[in-house]
Amino acid sequence: MFSKQPCKHKLVLYTEKAKPGVMQNRIVVLTGAGISAESGIKTFRDDDGLWKHYRFEEVASPEAWHKHPGDVLEFYNQRRKNVIEAEPNAAHMALVNLEDYFDVKIITQNVDDLHERAGSKDVIHLHGEIRKARSSNDPSLIYPVEGWELNMGDKAEDGSQLRPHVVWFGEPVPMFDIAIEMAREADILLIIGTSLNVYPAASIYQFAGKDVPKFYVDPEANKTVNIENLKIMKEKAGTAVPDLVTYLIDNFK
Ligand code: OAD
Repeated sequence: MFSKQPCKHKLVLYTEKAKPGVMQNRIVVLTGAGISAESGIKTFRDDDGLWKHYRFEEVASPEAWHKHPGDVLEFYNQRRKNVIEAEPNAAHMALVNLEDYFDVKIITQNVDDLHERAGSKDVIHLHGEIRKARSSNDPSLIYPVEGWELNMGDKAEDGSQLRPHVVWFGEPVPMFDIAIEMAREADILLIIGTSLNVYPAASIYQFAGKDVPKFYVDPEANKTVNIENLKIMKEKAGTAVPDLVTYLIDNFK
């Protein structure tokens, strides 16, 4: 009976399907710890940053994992607890609004999930995801962590100790090739809340075209940074990103 009725709903769907033919500008966003600072997650290199309290060699390296895995797990347990208790802020939310007007791809150095919890649909994590664990023998065996604790004796299905699903110093960055491709296809590039100190992430903007408009939001953004077509906003992300989003919608959509 239903199939013989003319169906308005299908007609509407057909019209909507035609929309992707209209090209949307692609905005690629590189984020760092600064975008989550106003959510209460510490950055690494600011005055009260994590690397002022811990030596990264002692908590975020394969050598540290080999020498004292329990301490490494505890360090990341505290980070995970902090992330679970945090909420996305105005900067994360504003990037979600951009998706109504642009094809938005987020490349984050952050291991938190605040972009996803805000509602961003296309996010890659260069340095891993704190709310996941993986086998210490087989990087393809990845699991969600229930709650905030990962303990010695928690095993993957291959029998190996579970480790945080994060990238440690000296380890490969498997998502980097995907990030390069994204940057190459950017029509607009945003850099938000990163000191651009850690490679290869800090080189990503170099893969965007010279003529691509670029915006760098960070209270400590370095004016000497050598990026073509760059506008610097030396402000906190929570106020600057919503303003920048409005500007982009008004001028580039
Ligand atoms: P950093 O701690 O190096 O830099 C954080 C940046 O955020 C600084 O430039 C601050 O000025 C800026 N910032 C602080 N508060 C802000 C706010 N409210 N709004 C906007 N910006 C703000 O952190 P990342 O550059 O993300 O890697 O560090 C990169 C990597 O180094 C991390 O992913 C981590 C770390 O070691 C690993 O652990 C593998």
